[in-house]
Amino acid sequence: MELEDDDGNLIALEADPAGPDDDRRAAAAGLTLVREVLQLRRSLPMDRSSTCRCRSFRPGADDTEFLRINNLAFAWHPDQSDWTTEQLADRMGERWFDPEGFLILEQDDAMVAFCWTKVHPPTDGEPALGEIYVIGVDPAAHGRGLGTQIVLAGLDHLAALGITTGMLHVEADNDPARRMYERLGFEVHSAHRWWARLDLPTPPNPAPGRQP
Ligand SMILES: CC(C)(COP(=O)(O)OP(=O)(O)OC[C@H]1O[C@@H](n2cnc3c(N)ncnc32)[C@H](O)[C@@H]1OP(=O)(O)O)[C@@H](O)C(=O)NCCC(=O)NCCS
Repeated sequence: MELEDDDGNLIALEADPAGPDDDRRAAAAGLTLVREVLQLRRSLPMDRSSTCRCRSFRPGADDTEFLRINNLAFAWHPDQSDWTTEQLADRMGERWFDPEGFLILEQDDAMVAFCWTKVHPPTDGEPALGEIYVIGVDPAAHGRGLGTQIVLAGLDHLAALGITTGMLHVEADNDPARRMYERLGFEVHSAHRWWARLDLPTPPNPAPGRQP
């Protein structure tokens, strides 16, 4: 995607995957990087398994608690915040949706974390990909190792399906998540970048693309 003003000057640019030519083009036009979403990958199976006992998501019964934790954990996120029951229902209506791959961790009978996985069948040039689609921990329980354990549980589930490549998307400035994924052996595969002219009165909104 790119936008020009009436004089033909580049005022916004989006590239996925973004490469050095895109960076140069944006710099030459005086654009600022306004958003970067990284795709990370690692091979599966992992050399360790999750120690948490998760259960699968129960559509209907778990909606409210999932939305509560999701909207707290992602309050800052451009695409994943303020989710509604309708948005969740739409997503669960997708062909790929499988509650068995939507893992819930409870403590004292209350949901504290979730890891929603998504399987991408192989395509020309790409192997089957097992995506950590959305993962979140109740902010009240951050920093106790639950994020790491529920991601491991998601990766265990994907590996048990025979998938040998794990994948996820993360905002480049999401330091806690990036640290966690780095420790789990994920590496940057590609970057989706948005640039815009910030001196314009109303900078173009970076188009929402991916999940976190
Ligand atoms: C990312 C997230 C899932 C981590 O959950 P968590 O339960 O706090 O993570 P853990 O306790 O397992 O910590 C894993 C590693 O993350 C890093 N980390 C956790 N919180 C951090 C923070 N506030 N700042 C920097 N690093 C942090 C640490 O490196 C930690 O490893 P270490 O303590 O062994 O050094 C949680 O912060 C969250 O729900 N964030 C909002 C939703 C989100 O960003 N999801 C991921 C989108 S891709």
